[in-house]
Amino acid sequence: MQRRDFLRGSVMAGAAFAFSHRRLWAQSSDAHVEILVNEPVGVISPNIYGHFTEHIGGVIYDGVWVGPDSKIPNKYGIRSALLDRLKEIGTPIIRWPGGCFADSYDWKDGIGLAANRPKRTNFWEVDPDAARLHHKGSQIFEPNSFGTDEFIQFCRLTGAEPYLAANLRSLSALEFDHWVEYCNSPAGSTTLAEMRGAAGFPDPFRVRYWGVGNESWGCGGNFAPEEYASEFRRFTTWVPSFDLDLQFIGAGPNGNDIDWTHRFFEQLYVGHRYNNSSFAGWSVHHYSWNLSRGKTQDWIKGKGDALTFDSVDWYELLRESSRIEQILNDQWAAMGQYDTAHRVKLVVDEYGPWYRQGSEVDLTHIFGQQITMRDALATALTLDTFNRNADKVMMATCAQLVNNLNALFLAHEDRFISTPNFHVFAMYAAHQGAQALRAEISTPDIRYSRDGEPARFWGLKGSASRKGNTVTLTAVNPDVARPKDVEIALHGGKVKSASGVALASNDIHAHNTFDQPDTVRTAKLDLSTRGDFVTATFPTASVVKVEVILQ
Ligand code: AHR
Repeated sequence: MQRRDFLRGSVMAGAAFAFSHRRLWAQSSDAHVEILVNEPVGVISPNIYGHFTEHIGGVIYDGVWVGPDSKIPNKYGIRSALLDRLKEIGTPIIRWPGGCFADSYDWKDGIGLAANRPKRTNFWEVDPDAARLHHKGSQIFEPNSFGTDEFIQFCRLTGAEPYLAANLRSLSALEFDHWVEYCNSPAGSTTLAEMRGAAGFPDPFRVRYWGVGNESWGCGGNFAPEEYASEFRRFTTWVPSFDLDLQFIGAGPNGNDIDWTHRFFEQLYVGHRYNNSSFAGWSVHHYSWNLSRGKTQDWIKGKGDALTFDSVDWYELLRESSRIEQILNDQWAAMGQYDTAHRVKLVVDEYGPWYRQGSEVDLTHIFGQQITMRDALATALTLDTFNRNADKVMMATCAQLVNNLNALFLAHEDRFISTPNFHVFAMYAAHQGAQALRAEISTPDIRYSRDGEPARFWGLKGSASRKGNTVTLTAVNPDVARPKDVEIALHGGKVKSASGVALASNDIHAHNTFDQPDTVRTAKLDLSTRGDFVTATFPTASVVKVEVILQ
């Protein structure tokens, strides 16, 4: 597209016109970004930058936990390299122990002396990925070496708050109460507090966030929404609080299943009304997996490859990831019909691309996969979406932290690397706890050929926030063919200085390996300033951060 066609082709031209007549844009730019410094959207909860760790494949055993007697550097059995990196990016919250595993997990198996803990069959033993394994190790027969105490230790070492997922399918409501009591009852107050003290943790863990079941429409019990709603009532009524403002998170829909949400909320809010101020979050999971270009909805056949893909697959994956915005809006609207004050917020506690098996760094890493630039852009656009919806999203945890799906890290035995996703989280950390600002982006759609048919994809998206005198803009340029000359105008603020960083590569398949751990990493982005304008060239297929210091 010629640059003079710019405004005609702009996807957000309507919004942009509202401001652009006041400004003197450079004639040559490909995209305009207008940041409205005085139009806050809401505070970006740091918890949007959370992580998820499940007892599946190589996440806990090999990823997080190496054991206190390991030669691999560790703190209390937890991999030191992982701790160091998590501290670098600021880790507000970690979800554990599942996922589907949570609804098969008896928390009592994971406390007390490690030598006395029972060995159990892991939930994922049934998965076809597990069937490939010759050696049935800790991924199949759960040793329970990593339990509640070790998880809390992990959180304390990273500075994260714990988010526990309770078993609603196969444990009772009373056992849920007892897990809360084990974690939160005051030192020496109960038998469970004494057991916690005997393990070296006299002080309460003060766990506030509790998921009540997981994917209860599927692996979490195969419930109808009304059935799940009545279980949810039972599990969350009169749970001992120990003076904490407990935050319960309900298991939301399969994808964007609005029917599940309507029927659950109707059961809770219409008629015999459920009044529990601890019901704080509604969980949403969004995996981008169907790369079949509309040919199938089959969970196995629809998946693509993590490493072998063309530019159409690239846009396909980013389009699937972009659906999160629609999901947030649809779920929010449905919830608001019952919870009219919107006390319950959205918790996206699983998200990321999901490819077919084959790129995992070790066979034991069930759902392990390589992470390329494509996944970095998918992660970045998802985080930008959360920032833009800071008023709706209270928490998000990326699935999963290490050796699984949308990992930030890959680890096997003594080898450990960061994936491009780690760099995205490092770049976006500046948004944690910042005031989200309204930002309007106008640029033409990208046009390309999808199986012989003309197709389009948005040209640039991002989010902005302000903390003190610093305005941060993060953005994704998904264009596989062209960089973008971008002009940024700040309305309501005077630019003192600006700096930038970009995550880019000339190969869209670029990824880090144990042998080449720094193939993908961030580099300085050159910027120039002119009055209240900042201009920069956003590289082809990149994630970009611009930080502007206001006068
Ligand atoms: O993250 C892997 C699995 O995906 C989780 O256990 C489950 O909740 C989801 O279906």
